[in-house]
Amino acid sequence: MNIPQANPLASYQENAAAIDAAIARVLAGGRYLLGPETEAFEAEFAAWAGARECVSAGSGTEALHLALRACGVGPGDEVITVSHTAVATVSAVELCGARPVLVDIEPGSMNMDPARLDGARTARTRAVVPVHLYGQAADLAPVVEFCRRHGLRLVEDCTQAHGALYEGKAVGTFGDAAAFSFYPTKNLGALGDGGAATTGDPALGETMRALRQYGWRGRRYVSEDAGWNGRMDELQAAVLRVKLRTLDADNDRRRAIAVQYAQTLVGLRGISLPTEQPGRRSVWHQYVVRCANGTRDAVAAGLLAGGVQTLVHYPVPIHLQPAYAARGLSAGPMTETERAAAEVLSLPIFPQLAPEAVARVCEVLARFQKSGGCSEM
Ligand SMILES: Cc1ncc(COP(=O)(O)O)c(C=O)c1O
Repeated sequence: MNIPQANPLASYQENAAAIDAAIARVLAGGRYLLGPETEAFEAEFAAWAGARECVSAGSGTEALHLALRACGVGPGDEVITVSHTAVATVSAVELCGARPVLVDIEPGSMNMDPARLDGARTARTRAVVPVHLYGQAADLAPVVEFCRRHGLRLVEDCTQAHGALYEGKAVGTFGDAAAFSFYPTKNLGALGDGGAATTGDPALGETMRALRQYGWRGRRYVSEDAGWNGRMDELQAAVLRVKLRTLDADNDRRRAIAVQYAQTLVGLRGISLPTEQPGRRSVWHQYVVRCANGTRDAVAAGLLAGGVQTLVHYPVPIHLQPAYAARGLSAGPMTETERAAAEVLSLPIFPQLAPEAVARVCEVLARFQKSGGCSEM
């Protein structure tokens, strides 16, 4: 039995009849962009997310870009975010012509360390982008407070955290706007690229809608803003409407898998397990263990030899990536970020992963550890 780390095909297969019917409806309907499926999806996703407005976009990167641009982020501005994230968080800032300023993470949640914000702020700081990595909310209360105190915009990167809660409230509802990704392996995944920006501010919603379509507001072919093409298509909207129906149940299945991993792997030598921080409810986009003392790659190889695929999210922090290293984007030491990059390992997790498969992953991992695969630990 080979166990993939993620499995978008299983998600399609589980919903195949409804998805095939939705696709056929779009094909026969003749509207392929910004039609009835997009309109319905935006209303349904806004209701699900507890947001007033939802503006679908071509990807999560595009949604972040739209949100930041609508918040007025542009050339000369700085945006504070983390280095331990997907490169897309930082590229969205750069698409605005702004400069990313990267801070370290706290080791418990591996999310933005709010204690680093003061040291990263300058007269040019315009916005803060906390990333809710792996499905768990960043520590939002101090970030919200920091933004209020200094008059900064807050845009949440929710691309890995559809449905995560912070103090009982859904992520994506704490700032000016939020971005979601519908990349196929995300908690809500399309059959291709897709994303959405949400906001509680109708004016921001209107601006994002304009920017995503060449800056048109009222009239077609009349650009009132300097926009571009950031649209998602009708086929993806139709597919996402089917998948949205089971998103909460799918998140519950991810939570059950996380519980099974935690119960089975507890106490395994050399492996630290992820924890939910107090007051937070994770939707377990990833189940990320940490392997001590430089053993991560050996553990990954041991699992692969046993038929278990893993991934590393992310092996190279942004401030050390070849494309960014020379720019000096970090605001202060990156000790926890660099430690995380060396230790993290994402085990298989997706709603269709059966308990027997989770048990098998644990068995292969335990056998490898006990056989001395990591004898230096
Ligand atoms: C943290 C983070 N931010 C942004 C993105 C960008 O989303 P997309 O791939 O849909 O552009 C991703 C997706 O990989 C992500 O994981």
